Amino acid sequence: MLSRETPLELAHNRWSAGGAVIKETLHGCRNNDGALARYLHADLGYRTTAIDCSSAALKIAQAEQDANDGPVFQQLDIETDDSSVLPDAGYALVTCRLVFAFIKDKPAFVDRIRCLLPPGGTFWVVTPLAERLPEERKSIGITVQQVELLTAPWSSVESEALDSMCCYALRP
Ligand SMILES: C[S@@+](CC[C@H](N)C(=O)[O-])C[C@H]1O[C@@H](n2cnc3c(N)ncnc32)[C@H](O)[C@@H]1O
Repeated sequence: MLSRETPLELAHNRWSAGGAVIKETLHGCRNNDGALARYLHADLGYRTTAIDCSSAALKIAQAEQDANDGPVFQQLDIETDDSSVLPDAGYALVTCRLVFAFIKDKPAFVDRIRCLLPPGGTFWVVTPLAERLPEERKSIGITVQQVELLTAPWSSVESEALDSMCCYALRP
């Protein structure tokens, strides 16, 4: 799943701004275990900071971590905490996989991420689409109106559908 969702540009581009730092919101309990952060760090060579508001998710992801190398894991609520505590002021790439549906104030969140990106940076979002999910799972997807909230503020929007999910590459 990771390779289908990971755009080729992640593998081939090298962002110069800020030393190519990548931030991922990660989840340890169900499916990711910080795998995307480790892939970006170890396989693609990016300096990576991975955040989650859940200490349990971070604990599980860190248990998978090589003690000598790997992403920085940090507990942070991206909606309410001060992002100035992050190791870097700006990030050439911010990734957000299976998280956007759970964000309460989506426009404020998108504004916040924009402030972390330098010109030429990329916000990469993977999210299920509610309209492609069965009734009982629609709450983990985003609606057409929420897609508009996510994509409207960017000068460049690329998207690719993957079954019930969609990947977006958004640039200021
Ligand atoms: C469905 S999981 C997906 C995790 C992982 N990115 C993946 O692809 O498997 C959603 C994760 O988002 C985290 N999360 C939700 N709201 C958050 C917020 N405001 N700040 C940081 N993390 C958040 C949750 O704690 C949870 O671990």
